[in-house]
Amino acid sequence: MGWWERRVVAAGFDRALDVPAIHAERARTLARAHGTILEVGVGTGLNFPNYPSAARRLSVLSREGPLDERANQRARAAGRVLDHVRGDAARLPFLDAQFDTVVCTFVLCSLQDPAAAIAEFARVLKPGGQLLFLEHVRAPGGARRFLQTIANPFSRALRCGCQLTRDTASLLRSSTLAIEELEEYDLAALDALHRRVIRGVAVAGSA
Ligand SMILES: C[S@@+](CC[C@H](N)C(=O)[O-])C[C@H]1O[C@@H](n2cnc3c(N)ncnc32)[C@H](O)[C@@H]1O
Repeated sequence: MGWWERRVVAAGFDRALDVPAIHAERARTLARAHGTILEVGVGTGLNFPNYPSAARRLSVLSREGPLDERANQRARAAGRVLDHVRGDAARLPFLDAQFDTVVCTFVLCSLQDPAAAIAEFARVLKPGGQLLFLEHVRAPGGARRFLQTIANPFSRALRCGCQLTRDTASLLRSSTLAIEELEEYDLAALDALHRRVIRGVAVAGSA
């Protein structure tokens, strides 16, 4: 991770996202995490306090290595044991059908090829395994969608590819995963450009 991403972008995300209302959404998203768990794009480890207590051991993937020190600290504080692997969400360095749960929060917005990453999540999930997701998405319309459209090129350039106008629900619906739960709503703790979020569960079928 370069200086800009670690000290400016990740630090900014960390400040904006490390608030009780967003931790509550993370805990709701992660309540079903069980078995062998992979968290993709782990960032500064803001999910670690929010897993169920039985989820002691986590496989975590970050695009760049080594793992961010804030993530290591949060893992220690939450009593999680991490198996850290460096890699790209669109080319996961794991075997097929390896995980019961894949977790992806605020990551699909930043990927160059989110459809490829979702296909990879489906590949590494066991049949019946679940993707738990929480993502900011494009606003349904009106002034907020207009602002997102204007701000999108700046967000992509300055915030490591983060797209404000991504229709992630459609990407999930057109994947091989079956949507079991999908809520779309405004999360008031986020600023107007990121406030629209989706949260839910998508399940892998048999290969
Ligand atoms: C906004 S941060 C979210 C971090 C964390 N998931 C959270 O919920 O706080 C986006 C993360 O996606 C990661 N990321 C971006 N592109 C990636 C890729 N191609 N493969 C894996 N991770 C990626 C970034 O390194 C960053 O940690």
